[in-house]
Amino acid sequence: MTAERDGTVVATVRLWHVEANGKPALLLGPLAVSPELQGEGLGRAMMREVIWRAACRGHGAVLLVGDATYYERFGFSGYLTRDLAMPGPVERERFLGLELRDGALSGASGVLVATGRPDAAAPDAEPARKAA
Ligand SMILES: CC(C)(COP(=O)(O)OP(=O)(O)OC[C@H]1O[C@@H](n2cnc3c(N)ncnc32)[C@H](O)[C@@H]1OP(=O)(O)O)[C@@H](O)C(=O)NCCC(=O)NCCS
Repeated sequence: MTAERDGTVVATVRLWHVEANGKPALLLGPLAVSPELQGEGLGRAMMREVIWRAACRGHGAVLLVGDATYYERFGFSGYLTRDLAMPGPVERERFLGLELRDGALSGASGVLVATGRPDAAAPDAEPARKAA
């Protein structure tokens, strides 16, 4: 997802389909805002929009690697990723998760694998949600 001003991209955020031991999730990143516009709430607006879109499409969880002090305000927590790992080394305190559906990360463990699935509703999304 991108935000534009006067035809120029000024912010971007990307979600990737991943899974761990068969449990699907979305991996968020990168999130970036043009330096001259940082601190004006654009990052917050992008995060809220992308989380809302993911929930509307029936996705159960979003994961990311980033500054906890920034992402905790959106509900991300290191607790939810305690049994998960990235394919490469990451600082544990920067590996965060957010459940869009209660229990979506329950029992999730192991190393995240990119599924390469194209943009689409979650595989287990209810039909009514797919239209959102
Ligand atoms: C991180 C980033 C996306 C935030 O976007 P933004 O539009 O500047 O953020 P917002 O205006 O929505 O929010 C500003 C708030 O976030 C805080 N913040 C910004 N970057 C932060 C960071 N890396 N860690 C902790 N807090 C951060 C600001 O201090 C400010 O706090 P306040 O609301 O208490 O004043 C943007 O600064 C950016 O693109 N940075 C460079 C790329 C990057 O580091 N991306 C990954 C982040 S882990």
